[in-house]
Amino acid sequence: ATTLGASAAASGRYFGTAVAAYKLSDTVYSTILDREFDMVTPENEMKWDATEPSQNSFSYSSADQIVSHAQSHNQRIRGHALAWHQQQPSWAQSLSGTALRSAMTNHITNVATHYKGKIYSWDVVNEAFADGSTGARRDSNLQRTGNDWIEVAFRTARAADPAAKLCYNDYNTDGINAKSTAVYNMVADFKSRGVPIDCVGFQGHFNSGSPVTSDIQQNLARFAALGVDVQITELDIAGSGTAQAGNYSTVVKACLAVARCNGITVWGIRDSDSWRASDTPLLFDNSGNKKAAYTAALDALNSG
Ligand code: G3I
Repeated sequence: ATTLGASAAASGRYFGTAVAAYKLSDTVYSTILDREFDMVTPENEMKWDATEPSQNSFSYSSADQIVSHAQSHNQRIRGHALAWHQQQPSWAQSLSGTALRSAMTNHITNVATHYKGKIYSWDVVNEAFADGSTGARRDSNLQRTGNDWIEVAFRTARAADPAAKLCYNDYNTDGINAKSTAVYNMVADFKSRGVPIDCVGFQGHFNSGSPVTSDIQQNLARFAALGVDVQITELDIAGSGTAQAGNYSTVVKACLAVARCNGITVWGIRDSDSWRASDTPLLFDNSGNKKAAYTAALDALNSG
Protein backbone atom coordinates (compact mmCIF):
# COMPACT_ATOMS: atom_id res chain seq x y z
CA ALA A 1 0.00 0.00 0.00
CA THR A 2 1.05 3.62 -0.41
CA THR A 3 0.42 5.11 3.02
CA LEU A 4 1.72 4.17 6.47
CA GLY A 5 -1.74 3.39 7.86
CA ALA A 6 -2.89 1.27 4.93
CA SER A 7 0.43 -0.59 4.80
CA ALA A 8 0.27 -1.38 8.52
CA ALA A 9 -3.38 -2.40 8.19
CA ALA A 10 -2.41 -5.06 5.64
CA SER A 11 -0.96 -7.07 8.54
CA GLY A 12 -3.70 -6.07 11.02
CA ARG A 13 -1.63 -3.34 12.62
CA TYR A 14 -2.05 0.41 12.99
CA PHE A 15 0.33 3.31 12.31
CA GLY A 16 -0.25 6.33 14.49
CA THR A 17 1.10 9.73 15.45
CA ALA A 18 0.99 12.13 18.35
CA VAL A 19 -1.34 15.05 17.61
CA ALA A 20 -1.55 18.55 19.09
CA ALA A 21 -5.05 20.05 19.07
CA TYR A 22 -3.88 23.54 18.17
CA LYS A 23 -2.25 22.26 14.98
CA LEU A 24 -5.40 20.70 13.50
CA SER A 25 -6.19 23.96 11.69
CA ASP A 26 -2.80 23.80 9.89
CA THR A 27 -3.77 22.22 6.58
CA VAL A 28 -0.28 20.90 5.75
CA TYR A 29 -0.38 19.13 9.11
CA SER A 30 -3.94 17.81 8.91
CA THR A 31 -3.54 16.68 5.29
CA ILE A 32 -0.61 14.43 6.24
CA LEU A 33 -2.38 13.28 9.41
CA ASP A 34 -5.52 12.21 7.60
CA ARG A 35 -3.71 10.65 4.65
CA GLU A 36 -1.09 8.60 6.53
CA PHE A 37 -2.26 7.73 10.03
CA ASP A 38 -5.05 5.59 11.49
CA MET A 39 -4.31 6.02 15.21
CA VAL A 40 -3.77 9.23 17.17
CA THR A 41 -2.34 9.97 20.60
CA PRO A 42 -3.08 13.42 22.06
CA GLU A 43 0.43 14.73 22.76
CA ASN A 44 -0.50 16.73 25.88
CA GLU A 45 -4.28 17.25 25.93
CA MET A 46 -5.29 14.19 28.02
CA LYS A 47 -2.63 14.67 30.69
CA TRP A 48 -3.55 15.43 34.28
CA ASP A 49 -2.63 19.15 34.14
CA ALA A 50 -4.74 19.61 31.00
CA THR A 51 -7.81 17.63 32.06
CA GLU A 52 -8.08 18.55 35.76
CA PRO A 53 -6.56 22.01 36.20
CA SER A 54 -8.37 22.48 39.53
CA GLN A 55 -9.21 19.57 41.76
CA ASN A 56 -12.38 17.79 40.67
CA SER A 57 -13.04 20.34 37.95
CA PHE A 58 -12.49 18.78 34.55
CA SER A 59 -11.57 20.39 31.27
CA TYR A 60 -11.88 18.31 28.13
CA SER A 61 -12.25 20.76 25.26
CA SER A 62 -8.79 20.35 23.65
CA ALA A 63 -8.79 16.58 24.01
CA ASP A 64 -12.38 16.40 22.73
CA GLN A 65 -11.28 18.31 19.63
CA ILE A 66 -8.70 15.62 18.84
CA VAL A 67 -11.16 12.81 19.59
CA SER A 68 -13.81 14.26 17.30
CA HIS A 69 -11.27 14.86 14.51
CA ALA A 70 -10.10 11.26 14.85
CA GLN A 71 -13.62 9.85 14.86
CA SER A 72 -14.55 11.70 11.69
CA HIS A 73 -11.40 10.43 9.92
CA ASN A 74 -11.55 6.75 10.87
CA GLN A 75 -8.65 7.08 13.28
CA ARG A 76 -8.61 5.26 16.60
CA ILE A 77 -7.27 6.85 19.79
CA ARG A 78 -4.55 5.91 22.26
CA GLY A 79 -5.33 7.78 25.47
CA HIS A 80 -2.22 9.27 27.15
CA ALA A 81 -1.72 9.29 30.14
CA LEU A 82 -3.85 8.70 33.23
CA ALA A 83 -1.19 8.52 35.97
CA TRP A 84 2.29 10.04 35.57
CA HIS A 85 4.76 11.89 37.80
CA GLN A 86 5.11 14.68 35.22
CA GLN A 87 2.58 17.24 33.99
CA GLN A 88 0.58 17.05 37.17
CA PRO A 89 -1.44 20.17 38.04
CA SER A 90 0.15 22.14 40.88
CA TRP A 91 -2.66 21.23 43.29
CA ALA A 92 -1.82 17.53 42.83
CA GLN A 93 1.91 18.14 43.19
CA SER A 94 1.22 19.53 46.63
CA LEU A 95 -0.73 16.47 47.82
CA SER A 96 0.63 13.28 49.39
CA GLY A 97 -0.53 10.11 51.09
CA THR A 98 -4.18 9.12 51.01
CA ALA A 99 -5.25 12.52 49.67
CA LEU A 100 -3.05 12.07 46.59
CA ARG A 101 -4.08 8.43 46.19
CA SER A 102 -7.79 9.38 46.17
CA ALA A 103 -7.10 12.30 43.84
CA MET A 104 -5.41 9.86 41.44
CA THR A 105 -8.27 7.36 41.44
CA ASN A 106 -10.85 10.15 41.13
CA HIS A 107 -8.91 11.52 38.16
CA ILE A 108 -8.68 8.14 36.44
CA THR A 109 -12.37 7.43 36.98
CA ASN A 110 -13.47 10.77 35.60
CA VAL A 111 -11.23 10.84 32.54
CA ALA A 112 -11.74 7.20 31.59
CA THR A 113 -15.50 7.60 32.06
CA HIS A 114 -15.64 10.78 29.94
CA TYR A 115 -13.94 8.89 27.07
CA LYS A 116 -15.59 5.53 27.74
CA GLY A 117 -16.06 3.56 24.51
CA LYS A 118 -13.91 5.98 22.48
CA ILE A 119 -10.43 4.82 23.43
CA TYR A 120 -8.61 1.90 21.82
CA SER A 121 -5.97 1.78 24.55
CA TRP A 122 -5.03 3.87 27.57
CA ASP A 123 -1.54 4.53 28.85
CA VAL A 124 -2.77 3.98 32.40
CA VAL A 125 0.62 4.45 34.03
CA ASN A 126 3.55 6.20 32.37
CA GLU A 127 7.26 6.07 33.26
CA ALA A 128 7.07 4.54 36.74
CA PHE A 129 10.48 2.87 36.73
CA ALA A 130 13.88 4.40 37.47
CA ASP A 131 16.61 4.77 34.86
CA GLY A 132 19.87 2.93 35.28
CA SER A 133 20.68 -0.50 36.59
CA THR A 134 18.71 -0.71 39.85
CA GLY A 135 15.45 -2.04 38.42
CA ALA A 136 13.71 0.03 41.10
CA ARG A 137 10.55 2.04 40.88
CA ARG A 138 11.08 5.71 40.18
CA ASP A 139 10.74 7.86 43.27
CA SER A 140 7.73 10.16 42.84
CA ASN A 141 4.82 11.52 44.81
CA LEU A 142 2.64 8.72 43.38
CA GLN A 143 5.19 6.02 44.32
CA ARG A 144 5.30 7.42 47.86
CA THR A 145 1.56 6.73 48.22
CA GLY A 146 2.47 3.02 48.31
CA ASN A 147 3.91 0.42 45.96
CA ASP A 148 0.41 -0.73 44.97
CA TRP A 149 -0.37 2.57 43.21
CA ILE A 150 0.19 1.06 39.78
CA GLU A 151 -2.18 -1.87 40.20
CA VAL A 152 -4.77 0.39 41.81
CA ALA A 153 -4.54 2.66 38.75
CA PHE A 154 -5.11 -0.29 36.41
CA ARG A 155 -8.08 -1.65 38.40
CA THR A 156 -9.63 1.81 38.52
CA ALA A 157 -9.26 2.28 34.75
CA ARG A 158 -10.76 -1.16 34.04
CA ALA A 159 -13.80 -0.37 36.18
CA ALA A 160 -14.38 2.92 34.36
CA ASP A 161 -13.93 1.69 30.76
CA PRO A 162 -13.94 -2.11 30.50
CA ALA A 163 -13.52 -2.07 26.69
CA ALA A 164 -10.31 -0.04 26.54
CA LYS A 165 -7.03 -1.91 26.43
CA LEU A 166 -4.91 -0.92 29.41
CA CYS A 167 -1.19 -0.32 28.87
CA TYR A 168 1.92 0.35 30.91
CA ASN A 169 4.18 2.77 28.96
CA ASP A 170 7.87 3.69 29.44
CA TYR A 171 11.12 4.84 27.77
CA ASN A 172 14.58 3.23 27.67
CA THR A 173 12.79 -0.10 27.85
CA ASP A 174 13.00 -0.86 24.12
CA GLY A 175 15.92 -3.25 24.40
CA ILE A 176 16.77 -5.80 27.07
CA ASN A 177 18.20 -4.01 30.11
CA ALA A 178 17.66 -3.68 33.86
CA LYS A 179 14.80 -1.22 33.44
CA SER A 180 12.91 -3.28 30.87
CA THR A 181 13.45 -6.41 32.96
CA ALA A 182 11.95 -4.66 35.98
CA VAL A 183 8.87 -3.77 33.90
CA TYR A 184 8.77 -7.35 32.61
CA ASN A 185 8.75 -8.68 36.17
CA MET A 186 5.90 -6.33 37.09
CA VAL A 187 3.81 -7.44 34.10
CA ALA A 188 4.47 -11.12 34.93
CA ASP A 189 3.38 -10.47 38.51
CA PHE A 190 0.21 -8.61 37.37
CA LYS A 191 -0.67 -11.47 35.02
CA SER A 192 -0.18 -14.08 37.74
CA ARG A 193 -2.35 -12.15 40.23
CA GLY A 194 -5.07 -11.11 37.79
CA VAL A 195 -4.31 -7.39 37.84
CA PRO A 196 -5.88 -6.10 34.59
CA ILE A 197 -3.17 -5.23 32.04
CA ASP A 198 -3.50 -5.75 28.29
CA CYS A 199 -0.51 -4.08 26.69
CA VAL A 200 2.93 -2.59 27.18
CA GLY A 201 4.07 0.50 25.32
CA PHE A 202 7.70 1.02 24.39
CA GLN A 203 8.19 4.71 23.68
CA GLY A 204 11.10 4.37 21.26
CA HIS A 205 12.87 7.72 21.77
CA PHE A 206 16.28 7.04 20.23
CA ASN A 207 19.36 9.27 20.23
CA SER A 208 22.32 8.97 17.93
CA GLY A 209 24.44 8.30 21.03
CA SER A 210 22.22 5.41 22.14
CA PRO A 211 21.11 4.07 18.78
CA VAL A 212 18.46 1.53 17.95
CA THR A 213 19.54 -1.72 19.58
CA SER A 214 19.45 -5.10 17.89
CA ASP A 215 17.57 -6.75 20.75
CA ILE A 216 14.32 -4.82 20.34
CA GLN A 217 12.60 -7.73 18.64
CA GLN A 218 13.73 -10.14 21.38
CA ASN A 219 12.49 -7.73 24.04
CA LEU A 220 9.09 -7.24 22.39
CA ALA A 221 8.80 -11.02 22.04
CA ARG A 222 9.50 -11.76 25.70
CA PHE A 223 6.77 -9.33 26.79
CA ALA A 224 4.33 -10.73 24.21
CA ALA A 225 4.99 -14.20 25.65
CA LEU A 226 3.53 -12.96 28.94
CA GLY A 227 0.17 -12.57 27.18
CA VAL A 228 0.07 -8.82 26.49
CA ASP A 229 0.03 -6.82 23.27
CA VAL A 230 3.11 -4.72 22.67
CA GLN A 231 3.24 -1.40 20.86
CA ILE A 232 5.85 1.18 19.88
CA THR A 233 4.17 4.28 21.28
CA GLU A 234 6.31 7.42 20.82
CA LEU A 235 8.84 6.60 18.12
CA ASP A 236 11.36 9.24 17.10
CA ILE A 237 14.96 8.65 16.06
CA ALA A 238 17.60 11.39 15.96
CA GLY A 239 19.61 11.69 12.76
CA SER A 240 19.13 12.11 9.04
CA GLY A 241 19.58 10.44 5.69
CA THR A 242 20.31 6.76 5.27
CA ALA A 243 21.44 6.18 8.87
CA GLN A 244 18.12 7.42 10.23
CA ALA A 245 16.22 5.56 7.52
CA GLY A 246 17.97 2.32 8.44
CA ASN A 247 17.09 2.75 12.09
CA TYR A 248 13.41 3.32 11.27
CA SER A 249 13.46 0.20 9.14
CA THR A 250 14.97 -1.84 11.98
CA VAL A 251 12.31 -0.76 14.47
CA VAL A 252 9.40 -1.35 12.06
CA LYS A 253 10.73 -4.80 11.14
CA ALA A 254 11.18 -5.71 14.81
CA CYS A 255 7.49 -4.97 15.40
CA LEU A 256 6.38 -6.87 12.29
CA ALA A 257 8.36 -9.91 13.43
CA VAL A 258 6.33 -10.15 16.67
CA ALA A 259 2.71 -11.23 16.17
CA ARG A 260 1.47 -9.33 19.23
CA CYS A 261 3.23 -6.11 18.24
CA ASN A 262 0.05 -4.60 16.87
CA GLY A 263 0.99 -1.02 16.18
CA ILE A 264 3.54 1.76 15.91
CA THR A 265 3.05 5.44 16.77
CA VAL A 266 5.52 8.17 15.86
CA TRP A 267 5.76 11.15 18.24
CA GLY A 268 4.72 13.88 15.81
CA ILE A 269 4.40 14.49 12.08
CA ARG A 270 7.02 16.98 10.80
CA ASP A 271 10.45 17.47 12.38
CA SER A 272 9.27 20.91 13.43
CA ASP A 273 6.38 19.33 15.37
CA SER A 274 8.78 17.33 17.53
CA TRP A 275 9.45 17.98 21.23
CA ARG A 276 13.11 17.71 20.16
CA ALA A 277 12.96 19.35 16.74
CA SER A 278 16.73 19.97 16.52
CA ASP A 279 17.28 16.18 16.34
CA THR A 280 15.12 16.07 13.15
CA PRO A 281 13.72 12.75 14.44
CA LEU A 282 10.50 12.33 12.44
CA LEU A 283 9.31 11.08 9.04
CA PHE A 284 8.40 14.41 7.38
CA ASP A 285 10.58 17.52 7.03
CA ASN A 286 9.51 20.96 8.22
CA SER A 287 7.64 21.57 4.94
CA GLY A 288 5.79 18.27 5.15
CA ASN A 289 7.86 16.45 2.53
CA LYS A 290 8.51 12.74 2.99
CA LYS A 291 12.04 11.99 4.24
CA ALA A 292 14.19 8.93 3.49
CA ALA A 293 13.05 7.71 6.91
CA TYR A 294 9.43 7.77 5.67
CA THR A 295 10.27 5.63 2.63
CA ALA A 296 12.22 3.20 4.81
CA ALA A 297 9.33 2.84 7.25
CA LEU A 298 6.81 2.41 4.42
CA ASP A 299 8.97 -0.16 2.62
CA ALA A 300 9.51 -2.09 5.85
CA LEU A 301 5.73 -2.20 6.45
CA ASN A 302 5.16 -3.45 2.93
CA SER A 303 7.84 -6.11 3.24
CA GLY A 304 6.01 -7.65 6.21
O1 G3I B 1 0.49 24.47 27.70
C1 G3I B 1 1.55 25.42 27.88
C2 G3I B 1 1.18 26.73 27.29
O2 G3I B 1 0.04 27.23 27.96
C3 G3I B 1 2.37 27.67 27.38
O3 G3I B 1 2.06 28.89 26.76
C4 G3I B 1 3.59 27.05 26.74
C5 G3I B 1 4.82 27.93 26.87
O4 G3I B 1 5.99 27.18 26.92
O5 G3I B 1 3.86 25.83 27.36
C6 G3I B 1 2.79 24.91 27.20
O6 G3I B 1 3.09 23.68 27.79
C7 G3I B 1 4.06 22.91 27.16
C8 G3I B 1 3.40 21.66 26.58
O7 G3I B 1 4.37 20.77 26.10
C9 G3I B 1 2.41 21.97 25.46
O8 G3I B 1 3.09 22.53 24.37
C10 G3I B 1 5.09 22.53 28.21
O9 G3I B 1 5.80 23.67 28.59
C11 G3I B 1 6.02 21.48 27.68
O10 G3I B 1 6.82 21.01 28.76
C12 G3I B 1 5.22 20.31 27.12
O11 G3I B 1 6.14 19.35 26.63
C13 G3I B 1 5.62 18.08 26.41
C14 G3I B 1 6.31 17.07 27.30
O12 G3I B 1 5.83 15.76 27.02
C15 G3I B 1 6.08 17.38 28.77
O13 G3I B 1 6.62 16.43 29.61
C16 G3I B 1 5.83 17.70 24.95
O14 G3I B 1 5.03 18.55 24.13
C17 G3I B 1 5.45 16.24 24.70
O15 G3I B 1 5.87 15.87 23.42
C18 G3I B 1 6.15 15.36 25.71
O16 G3I B 1 5.76 14.04 25.50
C19 G3I B 1 6.33 13.05 26.36
C20 G3I B 1 5.28 12.00 26.60
O17 G3I B 1 4.11 12.59 27.12
C21 G3I B 1 5.80 10.91 27.55
N1 G3I B 1 7.04 10.36 27.08
C22 G3I B 1 8.09 11.33 26.77
C23 G3I B 1 7.57 12.38 25.78
C24 G3I B 1 8.68 13.36 25.42
O18 G3I B 1 9.09 14.12 26.52
